[in-house]
Amino acid sequence: MIGTKGIVTAVNGNMVSVRFDGDVSMNEVGYVKVADKRLKSEVIRIRGEISQLQVFEITKGISIGDEVEFTGDMLSVELGPGLLGQVYDGLQNPLPQLAQAAGYFLERGVYLDALPVSNTWQFTPKVKPGDKVERADTLGTVPEGSFTHRIMVPFNLYGSYTVSWVKEAGTYNIRETIAELKDEKGNAVPVKLSFRWPVKRAIDCYEERLKPTEPMVTRVRLIDTFFPVARGGTYCIPGPFGAGKTVLQQITSRFADVDIVIVAACGERAGEVVETLKEFPELKDERTGRSLMERTIIICNTSSMPVAAREASVYTAVTLAEYYRQMGLNVLLLADSTSRWAQAMREMSGRLEEIPGEEAFPAYMESTIASFYERAGIVRLRDGSFGSVTIGGTVSPAGGNFEEPVTQATLKVVGAFHGLSRERSDARKFPAIHPLDSWSKYKGIIDSEKVAYAHGFMRRSSEVEQMMKVVGEEGTSIEDYIIFLKGDLIDAVYFQQNSFDEVDAAVKPERQKYVFAKLLFILGSKFTFADKNEARSWFNKLRQKFLDYNGSQWKSDRFDKLESEIESAVKSQSQGLDKTAEKIIY
Ligand SMILES: Nc1ncnc2c1ncn2[C@@H]1O[C@H](COP(=O)(O)OP(=O)(O)OP(=O)(O)O)[C@@H](O)[C@H]1O
Ligand SMILES: [Mg+2]
Repeated sequence: MIGTKGIVTAVNGNMVSVRFDGDVSMNEVGYVKVADKRLKSEVIRIRGEISQLQVFEITKGISIGDEVEFTGDMLSVELGPGLLGQVYDGLQNPLPQLAQAAGYFLERGVYLDALPVSNTWQFTPKVKPGDKVERADTLGTVPEGSFTHRIMVPFNLYGSYTVSWVKEAGTYNIRETIAELKDEKGNAVPVKLSFRWPVKRAIDCYEERLKPTEPMVTRVRLIDTFFPVARGGTYCIPGPFGAGKTVLQQITSRFADVDIVIVAACGERAGEVVETLKEFPELKDERTGRSLMERTIIICNTSSMPVAAREASVYTAVTLAEYYRQMGLNVLLLADSTSRWAQAMREMSGRLEEIPGEEAFPAYMESTIASFYERAGIVRLRDGSFGSVTIGGTVSPAGGNFEEPVTQATLKVVGAFHGLSRERSDARKFPAIHPLDSWSKYKGIIDSEKVAYAHGFMRRSSEVEQMMKVVGEEGTSIEDYIIFLKGDLIDAVYFQQNSFDEVDAAVKPERQKYVFAKLLFILGSKFTFADKNEARSWFNKLRQKFLDYNGSQWKSDRFDKLESEIESAVKSQSQGLDKTAEKIIY
């Protein structure tokens, strides 16, 4: 099809108005021609014969009368083997290659193949001529890193097809036709190793969506035990500037129990992104012993890139996640930060002169955020296997005020909330997830009754602490003071976790359950002390031993020795369990 042509009639920041002649549809890609460059843009509004396009590049130099070519295609990504390990911009240009092609300062209007054509893949066919297939059915496989990458019937081939022929086992590149299908009318459809899919449309080639129930272990105690995330679920991490959002996401991307991690760095500072890019290839994946990068994809739009590309990067990331889910894999998508994406929406909405909502965000922001998180899920595929996409997004509310619209819109749709607190990060209590404000609707790795009991101590301890600020330590009863010390103990030895300690940085569920049981016993114990000083010094000693215990290798001699020291200290001080604890523990 020959695309529609248009002429620029107005330029407003990175939005251009274009008078067109022919057919244009929403979210269609158009190229604005400036000098010898073609700048990628997307149709975001159509009114009569005028359409508005957001330009994914710096719009300097565009003038009225410049020509625009519409492509007839939606903004889409290429799906096929070779995505893993890549670092893309929001438009799926491989950034390292882009830097090579265009020089150190990224040049606009340069678009590269998302998947290397020079790579060849060892293809093994899984169908034979005459087989009936539907979209997303597996035609064959190729190995990609440690995964079996399914070569599937392209997702846009609706209806039923018959395999005419399929290439025999061998090595092919992504541009070679590896099979030919015949549709119901007898038309031949060639299939390659890769195909395209529009990013704003959720991939829906599954039999059934299931309720997310199984925990996605992150090895962060506070998350897995207290505020769990489910496979196929959603969660958000709002936190003020510098409270540890990015560090928490980095830890999760290393240790979360998933097959593939996709990181969408959206509008973050360039320095931070460069750090991630340098660090990742050097990190080892403990499951495979190979570079972590082999199971990671990074989509990166720094704060210095045009804002429209932020939106593209979020959608590109979720589409790649859904693609790997179709292979029966568990994928985690981490978006940092969704606030910068919302800011891009606000900027665009302002240019379109739409009626603004709260804090000038567009009224549709809430539904746009909701439909992004709705793309998470655990699904049963046609072949009976399961795949999942879990989405975790950070939010950076100005001044750490969680009442602002982006945090509120996100809270309405996610299943878990890990609110970072300024107070805790200032006190260097990391991860700075607030143990009282945060919540989760998912089931964790430990029995919820036990968790609630421990959490209750935290709440009561915090109440006592508030009271002590008013009446002083003298005005507090010894019973209350012990509750305060118990809460302080869980905080120090369980909530806080040193991400720079080799052992404590990531704690497997087995160890979390084991240590939590020990802690529950201490919380439930009735202690008597002569006075507050004695109580304080006893708890201080216990805390120190517990921290050493946390830092020792699981089931090592040191671990066993510290454990028996802790146990005998508790035994000699405890007068037995309180009634509730007795019921819960036994
Ligand atoms: N889990 C942690 N353990 C130890 N230190 C941490 C941890 N999390 C954060 N920090 C410290 O806090 C600093 C800021 O963290 P980070 O960059 O993740 O914050 P942020 O919330 O992403 O900030 P911004 O809003 O600027 O993006 C880190 O450089 C590190 O020194
Ligand atoms: Mg950050």
